[in-house]
Amino acid sequence: MSTSVYSRIIGTGSYLPEFVLTNDELAKRVETSDEWIRDRTGIRQRHVAAEGQTTGDLAFEAATRALANADVDAREIDLLILGTTTPDIIFPSTACLLQHRLGANGCAAFDVNAACSGFIYALGVADKFIRSGAARTALVVGAETLTRMLDWNDRTTCVLFGDGAGAAVLRADSQAGVLSTHLHADGAHKELLYNPVGVSAGFKDEPNHGVRVMMAGNEVFKVAVKTLDAVVEETLAANQLDKSAIDWLIPHQANLRIISATAKRLAMPMERVIVTVDKHGNTSAASVPLALDHAVQSGKVKRGDLLLLEAFGGGFTWGSALVRY
Ligand code: COA
Repeated sequence: MSTSVYSRIIGTGSYLPEFVLTNDELAKRVETSDEWIRDRTGIRQRHVAAEGQTTGDLAFEAATRALANADVDAREIDLLILGTTTPDIIFPSTACLLQHRLGANGCAAFDVNAACSGFIYALGVADKFIRSGAARTALVVGAETLTRMLDWNDRTTCVLFGDGAGAAVLRADSQAGVLSTHLHADGAHKELLYNPVGVSAGFKDEPNHGVRVMMAGNEVFKVAVKTLDAVVEETLAANQLDKSAIDWLIPHQANLRIISATAKRLAMPMERVIVTVDKHGNTSAASVPLALDHAVQSGKVKRGDLLLLEAFGGGFTWGSALVRY
């Protein structure tokens, strides 16, 4: 008789850069206000990486904490996946840079670019490696310095994002941990959310080239709400679960109104929803692991709780993970 293998989250960690940028400070740079930003997004402040501090630096801090919390030595890692849209350099991947700094040399290491869904994608891939027997101990990281590619004169985008990193250590176990992951993408609407700078098709004549997130916020908002509703339903159906079974919703932290809409769909009171967007802003691929680690460290999420993680981002990409913590 064959025994099923699952991946379990055995430790989490996160890191936020020291510098905090408040809405009031932003209002000195662009025509906006604390009231507008709070009303429309729920964001009160965001952390911004120091000059010279890279995505890899943030990832290293978060990963070190996750490994310590999991009581795992870096040499035990046999798979390292890092979700990011803001890699340190084009190559080597930030995962390879992190692998070397951690001393986890030899294992497979690669980045996943799925924008704000990066951590959910990385988790989904790591889960498949572990379930197939190809890996036993995986380090999954979401890390970003999104503020590095913002146009600080564009009030429609610069108020939304922040920097940070979160990480989780997964280990093969006979007990169910990650129950299912659901990953999706639709490249049809790339003009609604993108950064045109690149290598092969980069817009070199673009006036702000190098530092520009382009977004049709209102359109993205509508698609995000609809898409997240669908993936939440898909996750419940795949596990034959009623929405009442979920203990905690740990959503991507882009906008409190998007988060509230998903919570409403699940008939979950906001007390069962992990919210960090007020303090972190949208940290893209780092947002879900940051929220997860904050929920764990604060004692809200306990062993045995059923967690629904979800994210939506540029691509469009979206996904979810149902996790018995
Ligand atoms: N401060 C003050 N006013 C602002 C502003 C700011 N920072 N940004 C935009 N505005 C103005 C707009 O210019 C517009 O003015 P107008 O009516 O005179 O044209 C007005 O506010 C309303 O803009 P709109 O874009 O319709 O607002 P909104 O309610 O959709 O909120 C977002 C804007 C960006 C907060 C919201 O659409 C959003 O969060 N979208 C999703 C973005 C997202 O999550 N992206 C990442 C996905 S991972």
